[in-house]
Amino acid sequence: MAFPLQYDPLSPEALADPYPLYAKLRERQPIFWHDQMQSWVVTRYRDCREVLRNNELFARDGRRVGQEVPEFQQSVQTLDPPTQQPLRSLFVNTLHAQDTASIGNRARRQVARIFERNLDKEQFDWMLEVAAPVSLSITAELMGVEEPELRPYVAVSEALAYRMDAGLRPQAAPPGDEARKKFNAIVDSWFETQDRPGALKAIRAEADRARVPDHYVRNTTAVTFNASFGTLYATAGNVALALLQHPHALAQFQDESMLAPGVHELIRFDGPAQGTSRFSMRRTVLQNQVIEPGQTVLTLTAAANRDPEQFPTPDQIILDRKPNQHLGFGWGPHACLGQMFGELAIGALVAGLLEFPRPLRLAGDPTRRSTATVRCLAALPVTFRQ
Ligand code: HEM
Repeated sequence: MAFPLQYDPLSPEALADPYPLYAKLRERQPIFWHDQMQSWVVTRYRDCREVLRNNELFARDGRRVGQEVPEFQQSVQTLDPPTQQPLRSLFVNTLHAQDTASIGNRARRQVARIFERNLDKEQFDWMLEVAAPVSLSITAELMGVEEPELRPYVAVSEALAYRMDAGLRPQAAPPGDEARKKFNAIVDSWFETQDRPGALKAIRAEADRARVPDHYVRNTTAVTFNASFGTLYATAGNVALALLQHPHALAQFQDESMLAPGVHELIRFDGPAQGTSRFSMRRTVLQNQVIEPGQTVLTLTAAANRDPEQFPTPDQIILDRKPNQHLGFGWGPHACLGQMFGELAIGALVAGLLEFPRPLRLAGDPTRRSTATVRCLAALPVTFRQ
């Protein structure tokens, strides 16, 4: 048998382009034990989807396998059904009741203004000038809270993104926890002072009736805000880079009916979420491998999204790919609860690029954040100059 493949998600090669390695792993090691992460890593579509779907067998809530989950971390993300259900419904229903058309229109106008402002610059950083402010505005507007100051908030979000890789880089844990506490204080202040129209007001009004404990609501507000900003920011960068490197895909978007399926395809192709994990509740077998109760299973969903068994010619962008049941928004009871806004915000960016009279071009080499769980650019130099 060939030597087992080494999987170091933070190596320069994996950060630059993890997909060739994912292909080899899917082919040769559909499941393998990763010592440093103390996890089984699963790479094929069918297996990843099944782990995410089967919450009875694969838990998200560590307390179901005897781990402690401190109160400040208990949220929609850490609770499993049935406890999770009223909390999740509270957020899903109130988010979906917001005026999405106005939020989308304002996002489009904001994108157009930013483009105007940068029209004649020799180069500007898409991440700083476009991805960050648009993601922050849309998130704050949706939640109905005052927009936090951009740069300090981006620093908080970055610390949280590094925190997700603490299994690989334990030193990222303390600054990440500090950032979370800082942000929780901001959320507490919103609960005391904010009375704007938006999701938070509705959530607070409904929380008692839904009989959801206060700390779940506050923690989930923080999680939702950070999940929204962090994924929109990363997706905005990945999508822009994919379109700049595949101009035929951008041209295909001229057909407006491509917008909705096309956003999904770009998220399948190079979405921000590379993986997520669950705990095995019982002894079980996956790809002939025994998984013991309590062990962690990491589903490498970005590898699953390029599985040729599920997606023919997976390395090509096919905007109207059908079917396209990718895992870029997760799957099962913990699937993304802001998917509709993800589509809206990324759609606004793509539409903004199409509507603008000058084409955007790359103006230098992009750089990447050294993060494994969230695939995200650090800087993307671009220009509208010809
Ligand atoms: C294109 C943008 C987005 C992408 C690619 C994305 C991706 C994901 C993924 C993959 C998950 C599942 C993680 C897991 O199973 O561990 C997730 C969960 C979540 N997302 Fe998103 N997301 C996006 C936008 C948003 C937005 C705009 C919001 C808020 C308005 C949001 C809020 C959440 C929350 C609260 C969860 C946790 C749900 C739970 O555990 O029950 N996301 N997202």
